[in-house]
Amino acid sequence: MKISLVTGCAGFIGSHMVDLLLQKKHYVYGVDNLNTGKLKNIKKNLKNKNFKFIKKDLKNFDKIVNKIKKIDFVYHFAGNGELIPSIEKPYEYFKNNALNTVFILDILRKKKFKIRKFIYAASSTCYGLSEKKTSENFNISTKHPYAFSKYVGEQACLHWGSVYKIPVISIRIFNAYGPRSRTNNVYGAVIGVFIKQSISNKPLTIVGDGSQKRDFLYISDLCDAFYKASKSKYKNEVFNLGSGNPRKVIDLAKLIHNKYIFLPWRPGEPKKTHANIEKIKKKLNWSPKVSLKNGIQTILKNVNWWKSAPLWTPSTIKKATKNWHKYLSN
Ligand SMILES: NC(=O)c1ccc[n+]([C@@H]2O[C@H](COP(=O)([O-])OP(=O)(O)OC[C@H]3O[C@@H](n4cnc5c(N)ncnc54)[C@H](O)[C@@H]3O)[C@@H](O)[C@H]2O)c1
Repeated sequence: MKISLVTGCAGFIGSHMVDLLLQKKHYVYGVDNLNTGKLKNIKKNLKNKNFKFIKKDLKNFDKIVNKIKKIDFVYHFAGNGELIPSIEKPYEYFKNNALNTVFILDILRKKKFKIRKFIYAASSTCYGLSEKKTSENFNISTKHPYAFSKYVGEQACLHWGSVYKIPVISIRIFNAYGPRSRTNNVYGAVIGVFIKQSISNKPLTIVGDGSQKRDFLYISDLCDAFYKASKSKYKNEVFNLGSGNPRKVIDLAKLIHNKYIFLPWRPGEPKKTHANIEKIKKKLNWSPKVSLKNGIQTILKNVNWWKSAPLWTPSTIKKATKNWHKYLSN
């Protein structure tokens, strides 16, 4: 039986990855400190004999793996995930995203686990505010502490990969969405923010005129790519992961609700994100399967998850974003 360890297992992406790995008959250790993650995301798996939830912080990774004899695959999702809010907490982000990544890689090295693949959830924010279609060798421009911390984490993976021969793959995710998308921050995933507004019968808050484009990828396509990467022959590689088909935020809004309002444009956000996904398509024989329309329809069939999520209104958005504007430029 294959044994996987998923960090951030109670978060948005991590919890879906756990679902997929259990379907694929892996035994899964899931680690999460429940900082932004939620127990309800993994509740249905808690009784599964092939799943062991370890409620601990990554800073205890040495103790976490002490009792584990074998790990085949590591999927590293745990981290702080907000771009703009990271401006106020640069060290916290660096510690959790960069230093904790170094820490867990080094524990795996010291304990001599024979890891078949270590997959790192990197971020497309390493490309800065580029509006071009970005391939993996595009200029790196880490504008915010989040982007910097995630990029350093990626470089640490590649370094441990080349020096200590841990087979690593770093996957630069663009804009993932799906059931359990977080809305806990005003700069959070736009789809979660919109769904909560829609079920509260409030207008969706579109920033700018809605012509900005995002490269949205449905969660099942994302997990499929991570799974394929873990099974592949490749190591010490970086892959972009998106749909390759950026869509306007206004078009997204129209798929969710018929009422929306426009808020002033916020500095610090790209007008467009666009993944060049030729590499992952070719090397991993992966391609996105779920259209934005179908992904949103699936989400809208079960919106209960967002009932207890925070609701963002124009006034709370204005209040929350005011402090950051002085740091941002476009
Ligand atoms: N969602 C996206 O579109 C996106 C895009 C690019 C990169 N990523 C990366 O993918 C990963 C997962 O993103 P997500 O959207 O699922 O975020 P998330 O916040 O839903 O999940 C992160 C999980 O990690 C846990 N966690 C954080 N720090 C921890 C620690 N020190 N110890 C143990 N658990 C800890 C949190 O409680 C949470 O459950 C993140 O590393 C993020 O940077 C996500």
